[in-house]
Amino acid sequence: MTDLSPKALDQLEAEALTMVSTTADAAALEAARVALLGKQGRISALLGQMGGLSIEDRKTVGPRLNGIRDLVTGAIADRKAALDSAALDARLAAEKVDLTLPAPPRRKGSVHPTMQAMDEMVAIFAEMGFSVAEGPDIEDDFHNFTALNFPPRHPAREMHDTFFFKPGPYGTPKLLRTHTSPVQVRTMRRTNDKPAASWIACGREPPIRIVVPGRTYRMDSDATHTPMFHQIEGLVIDKAIHMGHLKWTLETFVARYFETDEVTARFRPHHFPFTEPSAEMDIGCDRSGGELKIGQGSDWLEILGCGMVHPNVLKNCGIDPDVYQGFAFGLGVDRLAMLKYGIPDLRDMFASDVRWLAHYGFSAFQAPNPASGLS
Ligand code: DAH
Repeated sequence: MTDLSPKALDQLEAEALTMVSTTADAAALEAARVALLGKQGRISALLGQMGGLSIEDRKTVGPRLNGIRDLVTGAIADRKAALDSAALDARLAAEKVDLTLPAPPRRKGSVHPTMQAMDEMVAIFAEMGFSVAEGPDIEDDFHNFTALNFPPRHPAREMHDTFFFKPGPYGTPKLLRTHTSPVQVRTMRRTNDKPAASWIACGREPPIRIVVPGRTYRMDSDATHTPMFHQIEGLVIDKAIHMGHLKWTLETFVARYFETDEVTARFRPHHFPFTEPSAEMDIGCDRSGGELKIGQGSDWLEILGCGMVHPNVLKNCGIDPDVYQGFAFGLGVDRLAMLKYGIPDLRDMFASDVRWLAHYGFSAFQAPNPASGLS
């Protein structure tokens, strides 16, 4: 029979409490708990023997043993709390963050000057009442050339200018649009015809007043040409539209874009198949001293092509040229961005050099707004 004398029980209590208080971690504490209070544990075993005691002994041993069990249970809980908090302290010390260290650099994007210029131009035209139309980059011969009154063997159709896709089994080969002018066709035909399959946005009976910002492609690559570049096309169709409207619109645009009233402009006769008469617009500039200044000096800089929409184009789009006429223009966005922001080399614009982009790029918070200022 186990010794259940008061002395033995005192010893049991002392040993159990020491065992608990000297555990080093949670696993050791759990082992001690099992050894003392588990099913086979020392204290549990003694409690199990109570039935074999005399009633007298049970009266003294029972409460004493229960007391030891409660005491040990409490000691285990206290030890667990102490170990947990020590473990947390150790983790906090180990995982400390040194806030005095320099922060790692953050990757930061910027708005490309071409996109900034494009947004500015669209904002100016929007203020004049133009809406924005878009069309597909992958075009067909009809929209890019034929409907725009290009004669069958016009040089611009030839391989050295145009990126053609391999011809498929059906129809004519697709091509990368060489200008944004096909969106004129898509816009006008939309008002009279079923929409083209890849049609996006716009489309209504004249009056039509749209600008078309977009990417264009030509097989051309040197210091002043890149195979991909950006244009904004303009188209106005209504009754009684004449060259005066064209001139006022473009002169107003140029003054707003360069933010000066001093811009001088001239319209030089030119030829485009889709306009008659056609012109190129030059703005006055000064090239002396190696630096280009807009709006002063005696030199001229060509910035866009324009003209009165050719009656054949209107006919090809189902618009009666005896009722409606209009003007159109197309300008190179990258060129005008370079002029405004003083960017010297066109090829850098598309080299994706992050240092260049960080230098010439714009913050996304500098969204162009004609009322509060452009950039
Ligand atoms: N599409 C012409 C080009 O890329 C630019 C142009 C000239 C557009 C005259 C027009 C226009 O709408 O009327 O060179």
